[in-house]
Amino acid sequence: MKAELTMKEDQGRFILRGQTFAFAGNPFEIGAQEAVDHRQDGAVVVESGRIIAVGAATDILEQNMGVPIVNYGDALIMAGFIDVHTHYPQLDIIASNSQGLVDWLQKHTFPCEAQFDDQTIAENSAEFFLEQCFLNGVTTASVYCTVHPQSVMSFFEAATRRNVCMAAGKVCMDSNTPSNLADTAQTAYDQSKALIDCWHGVGRNHYAITPRFALTSSPAQLEALGSLWREHPTVLMQTHLSETKDEIARVLQQHPTYDSYYQIYQSFGLTGAGAIFGHCIHLSDDERLAIAGSGAAIAHCPTSNAFMGSGLFDLEATRRAAPDILVSLASDVGAGVSFSMFATMRAAYEAARFHGVVLHPAEAFWMATCGGSKAMRLDDRLGNLTAGMDADLMVLDLKSNPLIARRLARAENFFDVLFAQIIMADERAVKATYVAGNIVHQRAQVSA
Ligand code: GUN
Ligand code: ZN
Repeated sequence: MKAELTMKEDQGRFILRGQTFAFAGNPFEIGAQEAVDHRQDGAVVVESGRIIAVGAATDILEQNMGVPIVNYGDALIMAGFIDVHTHYPQLDIIASNSQGLVDWLQKHTFPCEAQFDDQTIAENSAEFFLEQCFLNGVTTASVYCTVHPQSVMSFFEAATRRNVCMAAGKVCMDSNTPSNLADTAQTAYDQSKALIDCWHGVGRNHYAITPRFALTSSPAQLEALGSLWREHPTVLMQTHLSETKDEIARVLQQHPTYDSYYQIYQSFGLTGAGAIFGHCIHLSDDERLAIAGSGAAIAHCPTSNAFMGSGLFDLEATRRAAPDILVSLASDVGAGVSFSMFATMRAAYEAARFHGVVLHPAEAFWMATCGGSKAMRLDDRLGNLTAGMDADLMVLDLKSNPLIARRLARAENFFDVLFAQIIMADERAVKATYVAGNIVHQRAQVSA
């Protein structure tokens, strides 16, 4: 069944023509003007799931006579979005009210996740989740499953059928956990290891060791998972860190010998390049510096943070304390309320604005693409529209509703165009999504 449904990989060469948008560098480091490479009439050559060339349409067409062309007119071709922190089993509890994180986990999340011992439920959710990703131009994500190994199997099977590059892991939790969701230090290690052996590096799949957070893991479990990561250093590690003040107090009560929340993960070897810490809202400057020094990444989850009342992540203060720190963007579905990276970028803009800072559209788009691939240690393969990268792309209708179209009549430059998307676009802007060169989503024409 797996082979039968796997997407065709051996494609002939074809060309996508339209506006193109790539990053020549990191706008946080070299400034937006230098970092953004935009072409009004560009073209992308794709072959066998890879980007072969990107350039001016006239040059590309001349060099590729007779190669089929898909002409997207003035739509924008760019790398697909990367969502570095999301929970596929929490689809069905988006928009569930609570008094805050712990209440939400107990009231909504744990009962929902408990159903994922049922493979049929897991399969159905995994399928729906991936379709939502494609609808929103998300071509890669780092995904939390549930404590049940079969939830991970179902997810990777669905991802494999679509030949999409996804990271995922079994959530590990042995403390402060309902008995129907609890594993142990040993079963967390054994089951995670078996899943790594089965899936990591198979096709486009990547494994992420996933202790839920320090409140639901005993020191013994964190120790076991730290050992597992040392034994399998190419996998990712994802967890939650400093999301709410109440959580921090509870965590420090549970792990009383530590001075800070981050230090707990650090002491068990659960940090470094390939570690992705979700939220990181209430960190001290010492924690920020230590994270940056380790090479780990922050997953900024602004729609989640606003919806849950967790706090407003301060990107500016974080970067001031640790200029090299890597901050990427994430939906955090289902505490996060949208699959759309436009909604996520908009919420990131608003969070920064509340701290008195204007987030540049190039910075927001960078965090939602290149920043994500860097956090996942995949930046040599995807996250940008450049030759040699996997052809995980989306095509954006920049005038996807009459209001945006009207606003763009006054746009003075490409940054105005990007900013209007952040503030006003939703999934209707995603005209097409390509995964490894295969079209996986196509929207009927809606241009104004
Ligand atoms: N902290 C621990 N588990 C979770 C979760 O599932 N979602 C969020 N937002 N925070 C968490
Ligand atoms: Zn989360």
